Amino acid sequence: MEKKIVKDRGSVYLGQPGWDALIQFIQESNPSKVFVLTDSHTAKHCLPYFVSSMPKGFTFQHLNIPAGEMHKNIATCSNLWEQLSRSGADRQSLMINLGGGVVTDLGGFVACTYQRGIDFVNIPTSLLSMVDAAVGGKNGVDLGNLKNQVGIIKNAHSVLIDIAFLETLPDHEFRSGMAEMIKHGLIHSEVYLDQVMVLDRNEKSHLETAIWDSILIKNEVITEDPFEKGLRKTLNYGHTLGHAIESFCLESSTRKTLLHGEAIAIGMILETYISHKQFQFPEYQLEKTTNFILQHYARVSFSRSEIDEIIKLLIFDKKNSHGSIQFVLLEDIGKHKLNCTVPNALIFEAFDFYRDFPF
Ligand code: GLY
Repeated sequence: MEKKIVKDRGSVYLGQPGWDALIQFIQESNPSKVFVLTDSHTAKHCLPYFVSSMPKGFTFQHLNIPAGEMHKNIATCSNLWEQLSRSGADRQSLMINLGGGVVTDLGGFVACTYQRGIDFVNIPTSLLSMVDAAVGGKNGVDLGNLKNQVGIIKNAHSVLIDIAFLETLPDHEFRSGMAEMIKHGLIHSEVYLDQVMVLDRNEKSHLETAIWDSILIKNEVITEDPFEKGLRKTLNYGHTLGHAIESFCLESSTRKTLLHGEAIAIGMILETYISHKQFQFPEYQLEKTTNFILQHYARVSFSRSEIDEIIKLLIFDKKNSHGSIQFVLLEDIGKHKLNCTVPNALIFEAFDFYRDFPF
């Protein structure tokens, strides 16, 4: 069966049909210029495959940014807006974002804002970007250490998934992406969660199916609620505390920065514990999930004062309303509760659970 989700905008394609669709789109829309955005890693590891997948003689201008979350900011955008302007980009130009979550989020934002918006296509090259960041139209940058505080929701013209890009992806980056797949399992179904728990990156067809199923889960949610008025908040499961932990580690001079998925994996343990306490999320599922996460992600220890700092950062969460911090919690796998408030004492208790879980 051909795997594609076709929409006016935001179509997602898997494999060769995606390359065919991209080539056809470029032929038909005849952009005045094509810009391909990479970071320093994808310039080396992914650009050659991109070039070899496009027709001979295909011309484009290469834009490159330094790799890493610390460059996902307005300064990097300004630089790109200037380069686009100097290169004569106009409204009929096309931007192709070839990279992981930073490239697709930031590249999408630059494309949405340059001359009030030019077309862009996402070609995610990391697992995280394939199953989450590149799909669903969230584009933006960090503000200081605060994740994705500035941005816009607007779909790419299309998203092309090709798992050949994952061959050069380091294991820790692979694990980071897997956290979003665990999240899709928790918010959707035990069947999918089990599929992720036996994922082997070397089994290509299993991997491709698991990635596509993750995209289908996300697509179901964003089709119903593209602008995050309700249901889409479930895609933030584990992210309320996860983002705060990620920001805390980004800001701290003594802490090792955590990859997004590494922080979200911790956030999912904490929020699943809170779900168990507040809504009777089944204990055996909590233990199974915690055990799986601790098998794949090194445990991080936080002191009481660090947890205090993390709790203070919750005030910046984008799901908050009228000053109240709102979590997405679960009664069971696939059964969510939106806009939940959680006492700080229970957050501390969740950190204790994470610290002491026998493993
Ligand atoms: N990454 C969560 C969302 O797209 O809503």
